[in-house]
Amino acid sequence: MTPLTAEEKLKLLINFGNEISTEVRLEALLDKIAHKITAMLNCDRCIIYLLDKKKHHLWSTISKGKGLEHSEIKIPLKAKHIISDAVKERKTINISAKKYDLSLTMNIDLVTEYKTKNLLLVPITNEKGNVLGVFHVSNKVDGNDFDKDDEGILQLLGTMASNYIQISKLYENLRLSQLETIYRLAVTAEFRDQEDTPVHLKHISIISFLLAKELKLSKSRAEDIKHASPLHDIGKVAIPDKILLKPGRLTNDEFEIMKEHTKYGNKILDGAHSRFLRTAQKICLYHHEKFDGSGYPFGLKGDKIPVEAKIVSVADVFDALCMKRHYKPAWAPEDAFKFIQEKSGKDFDPKVAKAFEKVYKKIRPLYNNEEDSSLLEEFSFVSTLPISQ
Ligand SMILES: [Fe+2]
Ligand SMILES: [Fe+2]
Repeated sequence: MTPLTAEEKLKLLINFGNEISTEVRLEALLDKIAHKITAMLNCDRCIIYLLDKKKHHLWSTISKGKGLEHSEIKIPLKAKHIISDAVKERKTINISAKKYDLSLTMNIDLVTEYKTKNLLLVPITNEKGNVLGVFHVSNKVDGNDFDKDDEGILQLLGTMASNYIQISKLYENLRLSQLETIYRLAVTAEFRDQEDTPVHLKHISIISFLLAKELKLSKSRAEDIKHASPLHDIGKVAIPDKILLKPGRLTNDEFEIMKEHTKYGNKILDGAHSRFLRTAQKICLYHHEKFDGSGYPFGLKGDKIPVEAKIVSVADVFDALCMKRHYKPAWAPEDAFKFIQEKSGKDFDPKVAKAFEKVYKKIRPLYNNEEDSSLLEEFSFVSTLPISQ
């Protein structure tokens, strides 16, 4: 990578605000910022730490560069560490290669298999002077040390980025609280008849999301399915207790009433403004349709069934089979997986059943309580829900 000319740097600075202002998702925003910084400063690593005020630590929210692909670094604020010092003392720290003491970042270098030669730390502060985090860049590609220009650029980027970071954090909080509200709503709908509902809903959400990604649906559609899928049975709120809670088999007439939960769900969500609630409406109405046309409420076939519903159908059936119910024991995940494959082309769209082969490998540990934290990050609030065991 050749160093940028002054003119190119100026161009990048001018475009910086415009480009990052289009991104409201925190991770994507920081990713863009980190990319810009490595280009502008011509360095091989940029880590952005954000301050978690509640937990009193800094955590590497986004990292670009060698050795950082899957690393998350946490540094307690009270620790004696060069990164936390930059935040506590709100100062820019620029250490040249000559003066660099390897012990300063030894722990980070070890974990990320990297050798810091020189570094520049610049706190990210908002307009009130509160510190939001810190930029940590290291090793200029041309072997030079970071100079006063680099310090100035990074300070300027910090000031420009702080507003957008705050906005996207607010957006993120809003999104998470929206997700939590939906979950609690979905739990309410299923609260009467199932004891493991929050876990079931969480699994459906994860499986549906991974299926959507495997089927190459767009990112926003996959996100919509993730948030909408827990609402698939919201229509059950309108099913009378004597049918919903009946311990034995339903009579034909009772089953006809039970089937109506799909239409009730559709009605509850009718006219929704938000995109993912409209997705939820589709899922509610069609999640019991079957690929061969033998499902309900309309007996739709194949491509007439929206893909969102076909995805949730696989996720719902698989997870329900793996769960213990008062009328059946829990199936082994391997048997439930086989069942899905056997019903490919009958109950399930073969494309979705095929995609489930790959997804199954990823989610299998969930059923041994070996939860993959990267899958569950967004679902931490589930443990606070009632009966979430
Ligand atoms: Fe259902
Ligand atoms: Fe379900």
